[in-house]
Amino acid sequence: MRISDDTIRQIHDATDIVEVVEEFVSLKKKGQNWWALSPFVDEKTPSFTVSPSKGIYKCFSTGKGGDAISFVMEMEGIGYIEALKYLAKKYGIEIEEEELTPAQQETQSFKESLLIALNHAKNFYQDNLKVGEGKAVGASYFKERGFDWEIIEKFELGFALNKWNAFEENALKNGFKSEILEKAGLVIKKEEGKSYDRFRGRVIFPIHNVSGRAIGFGARTLKKDEKPKYINSPESEVYHKSQILYGMFQAKKSVREKENCYLVEGYTDVISLHQEGIENVVASSGTSLTEEQIALIGRFTKNITILYDGDTAGINASMRGVNLILEKGLDVKIVTFPDGEDPDSYVKKIGGEAFKAFLEKNQKDFILFKTALGLDEAKNDPLKRAEVIRDIVETIIKIPDSIKQSVFFKECSNLLEIDEEVLIEEGNSILLRAQKKKYNQQRHDGGGKSMPPSVEALIPEEKKKESVDPVMAFQERECIRILLEYGKEKDEDENRLSDFMISEIDQISFSTPVYRKILEVYKLETGKGNFVDARFFIHHPDADIKSEVVNLISEKGTISETWEKKFKIIVPEKDAKLHKVVYSNILRLKYRTIKKLCAESMELLKNSTTEDEVIENQKIYFELKQQENELAKELGITYS
Ligand code: CTP
Ligand code: MN
Repeated sequence: MRISDDTIRQIHDATDIVEVVEEFVSLKKKGQNWWALSPFVDEKTPSFTVSPSKGIYKCFSTGKGGDAISFVMEMEGIGYIEALKYLAKKYGIEIEEEELTPAQQETQSFKESLLIALNHAKNFYQDNLKVGEGKAVGASYFKERGFDWEIIEKFELGFALNKWNAFEENALKNGFKSEILEKAGLVIKKEEGKSYDRFRGRVIFPIHNVSGRAIGFGARTLKKDEKPKYINSPESEVYHKSQILYGMFQAKKSVREKENCYLVEGYTDVISLHQEGIENVVASSGTSLTEEQIALIGRFTKNITILYDGDTAGINASMRGVNLILEKGLDVKIVTFPDGEDPDSYVKKIGGEAFKAFLEKNQKDFILFKTALGLDEAKNDPLKRAEVIRDIVETIIKIPDSIKQSVFFKECSNLLEIDEEVLIEEGNSILLRAQKKKYNQQRHDGGGKSMPPSVEALIPEEKKKESVDPVMAFQERECIRILLEYGKEKDEDENRLSDFMISEIDQISFSTPVYRKILEVYKLETGKGNFVDARFFIHHPDADIKSEVVNLISEKGTISETWEKKFKIIVPEKDAKLHKVVYSNILRLKYRTIKKLCAESMELLKNSTTEDEVIENQKIYFELKQQENELAKELGITYS
């Protein structure tokens, strides 16, 4: 099923953001904009604003912002397509869906059959828990573990009878085809004619998708030392382990409200925490996190708190996934438990309220935690210490937000008792090495093929992960802001400001991926003769672009002050003459670029081996240095 482009356009045109938002919060008009208490946090003074002219909302308490579609997605916890459907319904627009091919129809109905069978199984296991063997064995097991009936119902827990074909017989009697039962992972087929239930004599934990349908099961043994402890559903057309987090359906509302998601290891941790009133919790089911799972959490919150058992093995295992989380721009905290305790046992021991207080008191920022742990392990071993430093730097350079990154460089430099500059340098050299490796590999793979002209493809692969210089990022941001806000202004000779700026910065490749993407799209569109402004980008399908542009146009220069203090840059005043602002922005961009080239060339010079090389590289270095000095003079600014 696919919504046609024409329908999407109609929805965009019909949607009035004020009307949409008003269904969720009560707005008051002040000047051009509408204001309200933020629906995302508990607050006393309104920080949530809607701009009807720009078609966007922005919450200054949480930093969230976007268009009407993202607002509906956020509030309802639904995806893009569902949000479009929501708006279409509101505005009486008929949804034109593009026809499915017969092959597509077939997979669609096959998946639906699996889901129906799985949900039949879920009901069957649930019913078992109420009578006979299930009641005597299964329900008592749950009771012994302290799960009350309400929580058993909420998680739809059940019991699989200790018989070879109890489920299969029931399902066949109810008209399910044996092929579907097998493909759903419920029944195992041996040689011709022989088959048996996958789950037998175990308590059942249904695994739900985000909308609450059962897509698989975890089945726990009741015997003390039986292995395996859990038998789980295999992968199927509807159950992809890498994309699912146990408990997300039950947790999502609370995750959104609390602006945080706790991550635990096991089914029972999730359930015990729920029972004690902590509902924003999901489980990775004992494996390390995947990118898709992180993206799933990211749909509901940008904050993750990892709750792990005390043992270092567990912590080290979980660390592997964390760089991935940081890369996605999420904030990660960690809480560790006393030896031998996991969240399930610990919450039972001390109770919900004390547990919440424990989390509050013991949560540590992940990067700082990792730094301290590494130092502790390395003790006085200098080789180990070097390894730890490298490891930390590798983690820090994964953070896409350059401001946050610079904060971590600073804090870790304190912890490690190492000059901040040294850490940054190490970060740069790691990035540089990675770039080189990738570049060589691309050449090796015959990367010379012509690429499709998509935005992503316009950006050299090796450039995507860079962006370490926060000052540069700031100037790039300013440049984009000026382009979006004033690009269409013309001088006496009818030259567009955007044309002037683009030709001036033609030689510069932006270091921050999102600004580079925006600039490439901007160039592409203006090159085609189209006029592009912020409104254009707000509807752009690339989520990074969209949210960055919303941020840019809603906070106009508000961060200037801190930046001025922090990086000793003179930030253009609001009423300064436009051309002066533009000119100095371009100068600063050039200055930072040259400075970077200078540093790189110094590196080359240091690594030169032959005398000829030294002379050649010296020449390049001095030329660059001279340009750098000239630009600095022209700017009249001394940088630190
Ligand atoms: N797991 C699994 N298969 C196993 C062991 C574990 O799939 N043989 C997964 C399950 O999702 C389990 C999680 O890893 O929930 C964590 O494992 P563990 O801590 O051993 O289980 P708990 O859920 O804590 O179970 P219990 O408290 O009942 O021992
Ligand atoms: Mn446990």
